[in-house]
Amino acid sequence: MEKINAYAKINLTLSVTGKRADGYHDLESVMHAVDVFDTVYVEKADNICVECDTPIPENNTAYRAAKAYFENFEGGAHIKIEKGIPSEAGMGGASADAAAVLRALQKIYGAYSEDELFLIGKSVGADVPFCMLGGCATARGIGEILTPVKGQEMNLLIVKGSRGVSTPLLFSKIKLPLECADTQGMVKALEQGDVKGVSKKLYNALEKEAQAIVPEIAEYKKRLIECGALGAQMTGSGSAVFGIFESLKKAQEAQKEFQDVEFARVCRTICN
Ligand code: C5P
Repeated sequence: MEKINAYAKINLTLSVTGKRADGYHDLESVMHAVDVFDTVYVEKADNICVECDTPIPENNTAYRAAKAYFENFEGGAHIKIEKGIPSEAGMGGASADAAAVLRALQKIYGAYSEDELFLIGKSVGADVPFCMLGGCATARGIGEILTPVKGQEMNLLIVKGSRGVSTPLLFSKIKLPLECADTQGMVKALEQGDVKGVSKKLYNALEKEAQAIVPEIAEYKKRLIECGALGAQMTGSGSAVFGIFESLKKAQEAQKEFQDVEFARVCRTICN
């Protein structure tokens, strides 16, 4: 039995640079793994079976990852998921599960090269390749063209109310062109270990449209800043918002002000 922590991600920057013929959008993003995770158990079985402690779609990403893995040879897996990452949060929970399943299957069966495994990941979802890589990276294309970046250990408070944002719905509502982030400036700030610089360069092109669907996003962002965050921003397609704090203590102090919110977690970024 393989047990894997499937870590969530946040987007420090997210720019939408174009719309593709296949309906997907070209993005440019700086992504960072964070220590909020689902626990994924995988063992060899005759068929593919996925169990989860919260409701997930029948054709969920863990199932699709296993199905894609067994496209070329016979095999199966019993997969059990304990959710720790909120859904419809923009934290890549479903992608993290798929990445964990692929990593576990690769340990059990070892059927593919690393490049082939990343391609299988991409076929399951745009954020799966980053979740397989972890740490910190810039992502381009639909999210699958990854360049590792020196990560930065940071103290975060991540908050999300009861309402989520559907990624396809949000992408269907945006109108291009949208303002772009200073990706290079963000990478430079990370490389210099400049947490204040990172906080200043936070930018998410999807945030405005997401706020129109879930107004709490704007409210939580404002509250995080009022609680002393150096910077705050929505992650991915929302609806979770993170604040960057100077110390763990300051993040924990701020957490006390979010007791009315469904999900309010102090955590740290993970560097490879
Ligand atoms: O690949 P994933 O399942 O994460 O994407 C969910 C949906 O979000 C896609 O079906 C698409 O509508 C939208 N999307 C997009 N451009 C991206 C990533 C996602 O338009 N780069």
